[in-house]
Amino acid sequence: MSVHIADHPLIKHKLGLMRVKDVTTKDFRDLASEVARLLTYEATKDLETQKKVIDGWAGPVEVQEIKGKKITIVPILRAGLGMLDGVLDMIPTAKVSVVGYYRNETTLQPVEYYVKMTSEMDKRIALILDPMLATGGTLLATIETLKRAGCQAIKGLFLVAAPEGLKRITEAHPDVEIYVASVDERLNDIGYILPGLGDAGDKIFGTK
Ligand code: URA
Repeated sequence: MSVHIADHPLIKHKLGLMRVKDVTTKDFRDLASEVARLLTYEATKDLETQKKVIDGWAGPVEVQEIKGKKITIVPILRAGLGMLDGVLDMIPTAKVSVVGYYRNETTLQPVEYYVKMTSEMDKRIALILDPMLATGGTLLATIETLKRAGCQAIKGLFLVAAPEGLKRITEAHPDVEIYVASVDERLNDIGYILPGLGDAGDKIFGTK
């Protein structure tokens, strides 16, 4: 399955707190990090492990370690940065690859203005971060950039998704695994998710 809707009471509770109209910047930021941590737990459940023997306190002991592919976290500027610390708390050795897009006001298409990827993208699992999967335009551009760099295993972590954006991504890239805390009702006429969270970037950074 490529869309995983996190069905966890802690995630539901925390997302509910994020939806409160007058949520403070600090609370919104803290909650975004906490939900990101929980989504990371969900998104890494299928990582393979292998056995190894280490020197334990009472002699040799067989333990498990994560096998094979290493992870790169891919926050989409700027709002994706609000989930980065939470994911790094869970995977502290992950490399971070950052991407940024602006919207061409004539074509309304995302235009890449910043890409800085780590090495060996073809050998890594990419975890894309963006609080909101709205129209899916930026996510589509990010997936295409990652695939052009050789990335073969891509997952995306989102706080809230719109059905329209989810459909667009799953049709174009059925191989990409999506982890989301909630699929909301719809997009409004300016591309905001309803009921959604409002402008997640502004709420994380305290701008507006
Ligand atoms: N970006 C946001 O921050 N919020 C939305 O609802 C959609 C896109």
